Amino acid sequence: MTKDLAKLMKKELLDVEPSSILQFDKDVSQIPNIIKLTLGEPDFNTPDHVKQAGQASIAANHSHYTQSPGLPSLRVAAAQFLASKYGTDYDPATQVLTTVGATGAIYSALTAILNPGDEVIIPIPIFPLYIPIVKLNGATPIFVDTSQDGFKLTPEKLANTLATHRDKVKAIVFNYPTNPTGVTYRQSELEAFVAILKQYDIFVISDEIYSELTYGEPHVSLGKLLPEQTLLINGVSKSHAMTGWRIGFIAGPAAVISKINMVHQFTVTAATTMSQEAALEAMQHGLDDGQAMKQEYLQRRDYLVAELNRLGMATAVPAGAFYAFAKIPARFGSDSFAFCRKLAQEAQVALIPGAAFPAGEGYVRISYAASMAKLTEACQRLDKFLAVN
Ligand SMILES: Cc1ncc(COP(=O)(O)O)c(C=O)c1O
Repeated sequence: MTKDLAKLMKKELLDVEPSSILQFDKDVSQIPNIIKLTLGEPDFNTPDHVKQAGQASIAANHSHYTQSPGLPSLRVAAAQFLASKYGTDYDPATQVLTTVGATGAIYSALTAILNPGDEVIIPIPIFPLYIPIVKLNGATPIFVDTSQDGFKLTPEKLANTLATHRDKVKAIVFNYPTNPTGVTYRQSELEAFVAILKQYDIFVISDEIYSELTYGEPHVSLGKLLPEQTLLINGVSKSHAMTGWRIGFIAGPAAVISKINMVHQFTVTAATTMSQEAALEAMQHGLDDGQAMKQEYLQRRDYLVAELNRLGMATAVPAGAFYAFAKIPARFGSDSFAFCRKLAQEAQVALIPGAAFPAGEGYVRISYAASMAKLTEACQRLDKFLAVN
């Protein structure tokens, strides 16, 4: 008789699903000649001086553990980076932790603050990762649908949701610029949120990983506006085209960060040493590495959004990140997975179905972290597809 040990596993795992973004990407990757505008990672290479720092670290045999919160010099550089860009004020020794990507920061932060039965407010559509982590900790996501409000949380909805859930709510998640919609918040909007959030003893998890990719007014950090409640998440993945190096940061009140560090330590010990040294170079000498990439993204954004609107796929101009969130033309119905499958099979263009994000049905997410040549070819294919369907 064979044993079925899988049924003995953590019950919360029954309630979470694998990433449908990665699954869809994998499925369409089999199609010959496919153009993929699916994944959320820069198509640029890591800057040369950063790569050299990583290579030098290996050559110098820096192959040992670092302190669990990360190299002290890297924490200093990260605190300075955040201060110089966004006016935050974090003590590197006690308020900054180096994590394995922003993902590691999100995991350690949520795991450190949540008890079973807690609730976490999550405006949607949003990058889905927070949801399974909330559930694995036995907590419940409370979704606030922003699709009727230009994909932005409003102070009214925030106030109402907090009032309704005041007994159990432990945290709220912000992600701006937002994956998948590209919307972001200006200072006055954030100040209206802060006035409400201050009335509650809750954590504000602010995932600002796309902060360097803000195209209009400069990015404003909740780490500056509400430091006593905010757990600010950032990293080098998007700003410095370093997704594979896996370095992120979390900053917040010292007493909270020291507990988050315990989860981080028990999970990974410390982030990879040579990646930390590469990130140190990025933070110290590559403050503006992202600028050239940003100019390129901006051109692509303007081209792509104009094309999508011309082709009848209504798209608001994204204010940040590198995604366009386009409405599927009404004649296709609103099943975004069906639309994307048909598009991939018949026109060899792969987009992410909006339904991969909660409250995103009826839309597609198009990543413009792809060359102009690819975007142009994809738009020509889309044009032909829409003409015959
Ligand atoms: C909003 C958001 N947060 C976090 C991440 C993960 O970042 P990292 O690669 O640094 O773990 C992503 C990646 O797409 C993202 O879109």
